[in-house]
Amino acid sequence: KTVERGNVTWESPSNIALVKYWGKKENQIPANPSISFTLSGCKTKTTLSYSKKENTSDFSFEVFLEGEQKDSFKPKIETFFKRIEVYVPFVRDFHFKIETENTFPHSSGIASSASGMSALALCLMSVEMELTNDGYSENEESQKYFTNKASFLARLGSGSACRSLEGDLVAWGTHKEITGSSDLFGVKYPFKVHDNFKNYQDTILLVDKGEKQVSSTVGHGLMHNHPFAEQRFEQAHENLSSLIKIFKEGDVSKFIEIVESEALTLHAMMMTSMPYFILMKPNTLEIINKIWAYRTETNSKLCFTLDAGANVHLLYPENEKIQVLEFIKNELVAYCQNGHYICDQIGFGAKKL
Ligand code: PMV
Repeated sequence: KTVERGNVTWESPSNIALVKYWGKKENQIPANPSISFTLSGCKTKTTLSYSKKENTSDFSFEVFLEGEQKDSFKPKIETFFKRIEVYVPFVRDFHFKIETENTFPHSSGIASSASGMSALALCLMSVEMELTNDGYSENEESQKYFTNKASFLARLGSGSACRSLEGDLVAWGTHKEITGSSDLFGVKYPFKVHDNFKNYQDTILLVDKGEKQVSSTVGHGLMHNHPFAEQRFEQAHENLSSLIKIFKEGDVSKFIEIVESEALTLHAMMMTSMPYFILMKPNTLEIINKIWAYRTETNSKLCFTLDAGANVHLLYPENEKIQVLEFIKNELVAYCQNGHYICDQIGFGAKKL
Protein backbone atom coordinates (compact mmCIF):
# COMPACT_ATOMS: atom_id res chain seq x y z
CA LYS A 1 0.00 0.00 0.00
CA THR A 2 1.33 3.49 -0.74
CA VAL A 3 1.19 5.68 2.30
CA GLU A 4 2.54 9.22 2.02
CA ARG A 5 2.12 10.43 5.57
CA GLY A 6 0.36 9.87 8.84
CA ASN A 7 0.77 9.86 12.57
CA VAL A 8 0.15 7.55 15.48
CA THR A 9 0.23 7.93 19.27
CA TRP A 10 0.98 5.33 21.92
CA GLU A 11 1.26 5.58 25.67
CA SER A 12 3.48 3.06 27.41
CA PRO A 13 4.37 2.57 31.08
CA SER A 14 7.57 1.98 32.96
CA ASN A 15 8.14 -1.30 34.81
CA ILE A 16 9.97 -2.45 37.92
CA ALA A 17 11.84 -5.75 37.89
CA LEU A 18 11.38 -8.28 40.71
CA VAL A 19 13.99 -10.67 39.32
CA LYS A 20 16.60 -8.44 37.74
CA TYR A 21 18.10 -8.45 34.27
CA TRP A 22 21.78 -7.66 34.72
CA GLY A 23 24.20 -8.94 32.09
CA LYS A 24 23.61 -9.53 28.40
CA LYS A 25 24.97 -11.32 25.34
CA GLU A 26 25.20 -10.02 21.75
CA ASN A 27 22.08 -8.36 20.31
CA GLN A 28 20.46 -7.52 23.62
CA ILE A 29 19.97 -11.16 24.57
CA PRO A 30 19.64 -11.33 28.37
CA ALA A 31 22.07 -13.49 30.32
CA ASN A 32 19.22 -14.55 32.61
CA PRO A 33 15.42 -14.40 32.69
CA SER A 34 13.70 -11.54 34.53
CA ILE A 35 10.18 -10.63 35.59
CA SER A 36 8.60 -7.25 36.35
CA PHE A 37 5.50 -5.50 37.56
CA THR A 38 4.20 -3.11 34.93
CA LEU A 39 3.55 0.35 36.38
CA SER A 40 0.46 2.41 35.86
CA GLY A 41 1.08 6.14 36.38
CA CYS A 42 4.72 6.42 35.28
CA LYS A 43 4.50 6.44 31.51
CA THR A 44 5.62 8.01 28.25
CA LYS A 45 3.29 9.28 25.54
CA THR A 46 4.82 9.34 22.08
CA THR A 47 3.40 10.65 18.81
CA LEU A 48 5.21 9.49 15.70
CA SER A 49 4.51 11.50 12.54
CA TYR A 50 5.85 10.06 9.31
CA SER A 51 6.15 11.43 5.80
CA LYS A 52 7.55 9.72 2.71
CA LYS A 53 10.97 10.96 1.55
CA GLU A 54 12.95 10.46 -1.68
CA ASN A 55 16.41 9.78 -0.40
CA THR A 56 16.73 6.56 1.57
CA SER A 57 20.47 6.70 2.22
CA ASP A 58 20.17 8.13 5.74
CA PHE A 59 17.76 7.94 8.63
CA SER A 60 15.87 11.18 8.96
CA PHE A 61 14.14 12.15 12.18
CA GLU A 62 13.69 14.91 14.74
CA VAL A 63 12.91 14.46 18.43
CA PHE A 64 10.92 16.66 20.80
CA LEU A 65 10.59 16.18 24.56
CA GLU A 66 7.71 18.11 26.08
CA GLY A 67 7.64 20.35 23.00
CA GLU A 68 11.34 21.16 22.97
CA GLN A 69 13.77 19.87 20.37
CA LYS A 70 15.99 17.28 22.02
CA ASP A 71 19.09 16.58 19.94
CA SER A 72 20.74 14.79 22.87
CA PHE A 73 18.28 11.88 22.33
CA LYS A 74 19.32 11.47 18.70
CA PRO A 75 22.35 9.15 19.03
CA LYS A 76 20.35 6.61 21.07
CA ILE A 77 17.52 6.66 18.52
CA GLU A 78 19.97 6.45 15.61
CA THR A 79 21.49 3.32 17.21
CA PHE A 80 18.00 1.95 17.72
CA PHE A 81 17.09 2.52 14.04
CA LYS A 82 20.30 0.82 12.91
CA ARG A 83 19.52 -2.23 15.03
CA ILE A 84 15.90 -2.56 13.89
CA GLU A 85 16.09 -1.64 10.22
CA VAL A 86 16.43 -5.25 9.05
CA TYR A 87 13.11 -6.01 10.77
CA VAL A 88 11.31 -2.79 9.75
CA PRO A 89 13.03 -1.68 6.52
CA PHE A 90 10.53 1.17 6.03
CA VAL A 91 12.43 3.24 8.62
CA ARG A 92 14.62 4.47 5.76
CA ASP A 93 11.66 5.49 3.58
CA PHE A 94 10.18 8.12 5.88
CA HIS A 95 11.07 11.25 7.72
CA PHE A 96 9.92 10.90 11.33
CA LYS A 97 8.94 13.46 13.89
CA ILE A 98 9.01 11.92 17.37
CA GLU A 99 7.14 13.92 20.00
CA THR A 100 7.39 12.50 23.47
CA GLU A 101 6.37 13.41 26.99
CA ASN A 102 6.64 11.67 30.36
CA THR A 103 4.17 11.79 33.23
CA PHE A 104 7.07 11.71 35.68
CA PRO A 105 9.45 14.66 35.92
CA HIS A 106 12.56 14.32 33.75
CA SER A 107 15.84 14.09 35.58
CA SER A 108 13.99 12.48 38.48
CA GLY A 109 16.33 9.52 38.31
CA ILE A 110 13.46 7.43 36.96
CA ALA A 111 14.66 5.86 33.76
CA SER A 112 12.42 6.77 30.86
CA SER A 113 14.13 4.26 28.56
CA ALA A 114 11.65 1.42 29.23
CA SER A 115 8.51 3.51 28.71
CA GLY A 116 10.09 5.62 25.95
CA MET A 117 11.51 2.80 23.85
CA SER A 118 8.37 0.66 24.19
CA ALA A 119 6.16 3.60 23.12
CA LEU A 120 8.36 4.24 20.08
CA ALA A 121 8.46 0.55 19.13
CA LEU A 122 4.66 0.37 19.30
CA CYS A 123 4.35 3.47 17.10
CA LEU A 124 6.66 1.86 14.52
CA MET A 125 4.55 -1.31 14.56
CA SER A 126 1.45 0.80 13.90
CA VAL A 127 3.26 2.25 10.87
CA GLU A 128 4.13 -1.28 9.70
CA MET A 129 0.48 -2.21 10.04
CA GLU A 130 -0.57 0.85 8.03
CA LEU A 131 1.88 -0.08 5.26
CA THR A 132 0.89 -3.71 5.01
CA ASN A 133 -1.23 -4.31 1.95
CA ASP A 134 -3.97 -6.42 3.42
CA GLY A 135 -3.67 -4.79 6.83
CA TYR A 136 -3.98 -6.88 9.95
CA SER A 137 -7.15 -8.41 11.17
CA GLU A 138 -8.24 -8.10 14.75
CA ASN A 139 -7.79 -11.80 15.43
CA GLU A 140 -5.74 -13.09 18.31
CA GLU A 141 -2.91 -14.33 16.13
CA SER A 142 -2.25 -10.97 14.46
CA GLN A 143 -2.49 -9.16 17.78
CA LYS A 144 0.06 -11.55 19.19
CA TYR A 145 2.32 -10.91 16.21
CA PHE A 146 1.94 -7.15 16.72
CA THR A 147 2.71 -7.22 20.47
CA ASN A 148 5.54 -9.74 20.23
CA LYS A 149 7.25 -7.87 17.41
CA ALA A 150 6.78 -4.52 19.19
CA SER A 151 8.35 -6.06 22.30
CA PHE A 152 11.14 -7.53 20.14
CA LEU A 153 11.87 -4.05 18.70
CA ALA A 154 11.63 -2.41 22.15
CA ARG A 155 14.24 -4.89 23.42
CA LEU A 156 16.64 -3.65 20.79
CA GLY A 157 16.13 -0.11 22.08
CA SER A 158 16.56 -0.92 25.75
CA GLY A 159 16.40 -4.46 27.16
CA SER A 160 13.95 -3.84 29.98
CA ALA A 161 11.63 -1.91 27.59
CA CYS A 162 10.41 -5.23 26.17
CA ARG A 163 8.62 -5.81 29.50
CA SER A 164 6.51 -2.62 29.34
CA LEU A 165 3.87 -3.44 26.72
CA GLU A 166 1.56 -5.61 28.74
CA GLY A 167 0.69 -6.12 32.38
CA ASP A 168 0.46 -6.76 35.14
CA LEU A 169 3.43 -9.12 35.21
CA VAL A 170 5.78 -9.70 32.29
CA ALA A 171 8.60 -12.22 31.97
CA TRP A 172 11.50 -11.89 29.57
CA GLY A 173 14.14 -14.55 28.96
CA THR A 174 13.78 -18.27 28.47
CA HIS A 175 12.73 -20.05 31.66
CA LYS A 176 11.83 -23.72 31.81
CA GLU A 177 8.59 -23.24 33.73
CA ILE A 178 7.21 -20.24 31.84
CA THR A 179 5.27 -21.31 28.80
CA GLY A 180 6.20 -19.31 25.70
CA SER A 181 9.02 -17.40 27.41
CA SER A 182 11.69 -16.07 25.06
CA ASP A 183 14.99 -14.25 25.07
CA LEU A 184 13.71 -12.18 22.16
CA PHE A 185 10.66 -10.49 23.70
CA GLY A 186 8.65 -10.18 26.88
CA VAL A 187 5.57 -12.32 27.49
CA LYS A 188 2.61 -11.68 29.73
CA TYR A 189 2.88 -13.93 32.79
CA PRO A 190 0.85 -16.95 31.72
CA PHE A 191 -0.35 -18.25 35.10
CA LYS A 192 -3.01 -17.16 37.53
CA VAL A 193 -1.73 -14.86 40.28
CA HIS A 194 -3.02 -15.02 43.86
CA ASP A 195 -5.28 -12.14 44.94
CA ASN A 196 -2.68 -11.06 47.54
CA PHE A 197 -0.75 -9.49 44.64
CA LYS A 198 -3.69 -7.71 42.99
CA ASN A 199 -3.32 -3.91 42.85
CA TYR A 200 0.11 -4.05 44.45
CA GLN A 201 1.42 -0.56 45.20
CA ASP A 202 4.76 0.95 44.20
CA THR A 203 5.79 4.21 45.81
CA ILE A 204 9.05 5.48 44.37
CA LEU A 205 11.25 7.44 46.76
CA LEU A 206 13.46 9.82 44.78
CA VAL A 207 16.70 9.73 46.71
CA ASP A 208 18.91 11.12 43.98
CA LYS A 209 17.67 12.77 40.84
CA GLY A 210 21.09 13.29 39.32
CA GLU A 211 22.58 11.53 36.34
CA LYS A 212 24.07 8.24 37.56
CA GLN A 213 27.84 7.81 37.30
CA VAL A 214 27.72 4.42 35.58
CA SER A 215 25.17 3.74 32.82
CA SER A 216 23.32 0.42 32.73
CA THR A 217 25.01 -0.34 29.39
CA VAL A 218 28.39 -0.22 31.10
CA GLY A 219 27.04 -2.15 34.09
CA HIS A 220 25.71 -4.98 31.90
CA GLY A 221 29.09 -5.10 30.16
CA LEU A 222 30.89 -5.61 33.45
CA MET A 223 29.07 -8.91 33.93
CA HIS A 224 31.44 -10.33 31.30
CA ASN A 225 34.38 -11.80 33.20
CA HIS A 226 32.58 -11.11 36.48
CA PRO A 227 33.73 -13.60 39.14
CA PHE A 228 30.16 -14.36 40.29
CA ALA A 229 28.36 -14.13 36.95
CA GLU A 230 27.55 -17.81 36.44
CA GLN A 231 26.18 -18.30 39.96
CA ARG A 232 24.17 -15.11 39.62
CA PHE A 233 22.56 -16.16 36.33
CA GLU A 234 21.68 -19.53 37.83
CA GLN A 235 20.25 -17.84 40.92
CA ALA A 236 17.96 -15.68 38.75
CA HIS A 237 16.47 -18.88 37.24
CA GLU A 238 15.91 -20.28 40.74
CA ASN A 239 14.43 -17.06 42.10
CA LEU A 240 12.02 -16.95 39.18
CA SER A 241 10.97 -20.53 39.95
CA SER A 242 10.39 -19.52 43.57
CA LEU A 243 8.30 -16.53 42.49
CA ILE A 244 6.10 -18.74 40.31
CA LYS A 245 5.23 -20.79 43.40
CA ILE A 246 4.80 -17.64 45.51
CA PHE A 247 2.43 -16.04 42.97
CA LYS A 248 0.38 -19.23 42.96
CA GLU A 249 0.20 -19.64 46.73
CA GLY A 250 0.08 -15.98 47.75
CA ASP A 251 2.96 -16.12 50.24
CA VAL A 252 3.85 -12.43 50.63
CA SER A 253 6.59 -13.09 53.23
CA LYS A 254 8.48 -15.28 50.79
CA PHE A 255 7.85 -12.68 48.06
CA ILE A 256 9.62 -10.10 50.25
CA GLU A 257 12.62 -12.40 50.70
CA ILE A 258 13.10 -12.93 46.98
CA VAL A 259 12.47 -9.33 45.94
CA GLU A 260 14.77 -7.71 48.50
CA SER A 261 17.48 -10.29 47.90
CA GLU A 262 17.28 -9.61 44.14
CA ALA A 263 17.66 -5.86 44.71
CA LEU A 264 20.68 -6.29 46.97
CA THR A 265 22.21 -8.89 44.66
CA LEU A 266 21.95 -6.47 41.72
CA HIS A 267 23.93 -3.91 43.69
CA ALA A 268 26.31 -6.58 44.98
CA MET A 269 27.14 -7.39 41.34
CA MET A 270 28.05 -3.73 40.82
CA MET A 271 30.22 -3.66 43.92
CA THR A 272 32.06 -6.81 42.83
CA SER A 273 32.62 -5.81 39.18
CA MET A 274 36.04 -4.71 38.00
CA PRO A 275 35.99 -1.74 37.96
CA TYR A 276 33.60 -1.74 40.94
CA PHE A 277 31.04 0.95 41.61
CA ILE A 278 28.25 1.88 44.01
CA LEU A 279 24.97 3.43 42.88
CA MET A 280 23.27 3.42 46.27
CA LYS A 281 23.51 6.59 48.37
CA PRO A 282 23.63 6.86 52.16
CA ASN A 283 19.91 7.71 52.13
CA THR A 284 19.17 4.51 50.19
CA LEU A 285 20.58 2.54 53.15
CA GLU A 286 18.79 4.74 55.70
CA ILE A 287 15.50 3.95 53.98
CA ILE A 288 16.22 0.21 53.82
CA ASN A 289 16.98 0.13 57.56
CA LYS A 290 13.80 2.07 58.33
CA ILE A 291 11.77 -0.42 56.30
CA TRP A 292 13.28 -3.36 58.17
CA ALA A 293 12.59 -1.69 61.53
CA TYR A 294 9.01 -0.90 60.45
CA ARG A 295 8.44 -4.56 59.54
CA THR A 296 9.76 -5.67 62.93
CA GLU A 297 7.52 -3.22 64.78
CA THR A 298 4.35 -3.87 62.81
CA ASN A 299 3.17 -6.87 60.84
CA SER A 300 3.48 -4.93 57.60
CA LYS A 301 4.34 -6.62 54.29
CA LEU A 302 6.10 -3.52 52.98
CA CYS A 303 9.33 -4.29 51.10
CA PHE A 304 11.76 -2.51 48.81
CA THR A 305 13.42 -3.01 45.51
CA LEU A 306 16.04 -0.98 43.63
CA ASP A 307 16.90 -0.52 40.01
CA ALA A 308 20.27 0.62 38.72
CA GLY A 309 20.31 3.78 40.84
CA ALA A 310 19.81 5.23 44.31
CA ASN A 311 16.02 5.51 44.29
CA VAL A 312 13.96 3.07 46.34
CA HIS A 313 10.74 1.41 45.14
CA LEU A 314 8.43 0.53 48.02
CA LEU A 315 6.21 -2.43 47.18
CA TYR A 316 3.19 -3.23 49.36
CA PRO A 317 -0.34 -4.63 49.29
CA GLU A 318 -3.16 -2.18 48.58
CA ASN A 319 -4.79 -2.73 51.99
CA GLU A 320 -1.74 -1.17 53.69
CA LYS A 321 -1.86 2.02 51.64
CA ILE A 322 -3.01 4.41 54.37
CA GLN A 323 -0.52 3.17 56.99
CA VAL A 324 2.42 3.00 54.58
CA LEU A 325 1.81 6.51 53.23
CA GLU A 326 1.69 7.74 56.81
CA PHE A 327 4.98 5.96 57.53
CA ILE A 328 6.54 7.49 54.40
CA LYS A 329 5.45 11.00 55.39
CA ASN A 330 6.64 10.63 58.97
CA GLU A 331 9.89 8.76 58.49
CA LEU A 332 11.03 8.41 54.88
CA VAL A 333 10.33 11.73 53.15
CA ALA A 334 13.30 13.19 54.99
CA TYR A 335 15.62 10.98 52.91
CA CYS A 336 14.09 11.97 49.55
CA GLN A 337 15.65 14.72 47.49
CA ASN A 338 13.41 17.79 47.97
CA GLY A 339 10.98 15.47 49.77
CA HIS A 340 9.96 14.07 46.40
CA TYR A 341 8.26 10.70 45.91
CA ILE A 342 5.81 9.23 43.37
CA CYS A 343 2.84 7.00 44.21
CA ASP A 344 2.15 4.37 41.61
CA GLN A 345 0.72 0.86 41.38
CA ILE A 346 0.65 -2.15 39.12
CA GLY A 347 -0.71 -1.42 35.66
CA PHE A 348 -1.85 -3.24 32.58
CA GLY A 349 0.39 -2.09 29.77
CA ALA A 350 0.50 0.20 26.76
CA LYS A 351 -2.46 1.86 25.05
CA LYS A 352 -2.98 3.28 21.58
CA LEU A 353 -4.52 6.75 21.79
O1 PMV B 1 17.10 -2.04 30.18
P1 PMV B 1 18.44 -1.62 30.69
O2 PMV B 1 19.55 -2.00 29.79
O3 PMV B 1 18.44 -0.16 31.08
O4 PMV B 1 18.74 -2.44 32.05
C1 PMV B 1 17.91 -2.37 33.16
C2 PMV B 1 18.46 -3.13 34.28
C3 PMV B 1 17.71 -3.04 35.60
O5 PMV B 1 16.77 -2.02 35.61
C4 PMV B 1 18.72 -2.78 36.69
C5 PMV B 1 17.05 -4.37 35.92
C6 PMV B 1 15.79 -4.70 35.15
O6 PMV B 1 15.57 -5.91 34.94
O7 PMV B 1 15.01 -3.81 34.79
